[in-house]
Amino acid sequence: MSKADDDYDYLFKIVLSGDSGVGKSNLLLRFTKNQFNADSKTTIGVEFATRSITISGKVVKAQIWDTAGQERYRAITAAYYRGAIGAVLVYDITNKQSFEAVEQWIQEVRENADKDIVIMIIGNKSDLKHLRAIRTESGQDLAQMYKVAFMEASAQDGTNVDQAFIQIIQQIYQNLTKQLQKYDQMSHLQSEKLDLEITNSGNKKQGCC
Ligand code: GTP
Ligand code: MG
Repeated sequence: MSKADDDYDYLFKIVLSGDSGVGKSNLLLRFTKNQFNADSKTTIGVEFATRSITISGKVVKAQIWDTAGQERYRAITAAYYRGAIGAVLVYDITNKQSFEAVEQWIQEVRENADKDIVIMIIGNKSDLKHLRAIRTESGQDLAQMYKVAFMEASAQDGTNVDQAFIQIIQQIYQNLTKQLQKYDQMSHLQSEKLDLEITNSGNKKQGCC
């Protein structure tokens, strides 16, 4: 590992889920290497790839995990979601079944991951316009119902791939900075309270003796 690989301020674990063949591995390949594999094989086990982006002067390293959408490889579920703070749920806009499965994927994420996990739905293969089976509005409606982000993208021609991943990374970053600010305020209040207690006990001492 080069030194540059280790040079980051934040590390975000983001998982990819969705039915087999929807293009999870290719979205990851496009985002991390700007490549596409037209005859990629189904993923076996778990893989991850990383890409760092800079937000407000901070280097955020996204570590994106990818596993098989196939049922028989899904014994690793809990370990896969452990520590994840983002989840990208993918369907294929030409495959109705993969769209209908998104609700189950959301459930799986909610059952196995942190309750504050940031979720985004991606309708992939937007390049296959002539084969479209799911209207853009249906994807938007589903995302709205679950109050999660949504984007259509194409791993093949690259449309919206960077935008989608960067959007979820930025959302995670915003949530994190909000939480850090809250902690800062709390510890500030606590140190004020402590100051007050010290002053009070000092006063008491003065009063009693
Ligand atoms: P599993 O590993 O089995 O869960 O599948 P996966 O979701 O990782 O799918 P993968 O990325 O392997 O892609 C499956 C097939 O769809 C491959 O033949 C890809 O080349 C193709 N594919 C992926 N993304 C796109 C896309 O955006 N457009 C088109 N036209 N084909 C795509
Ligand atoms: Mg795969």
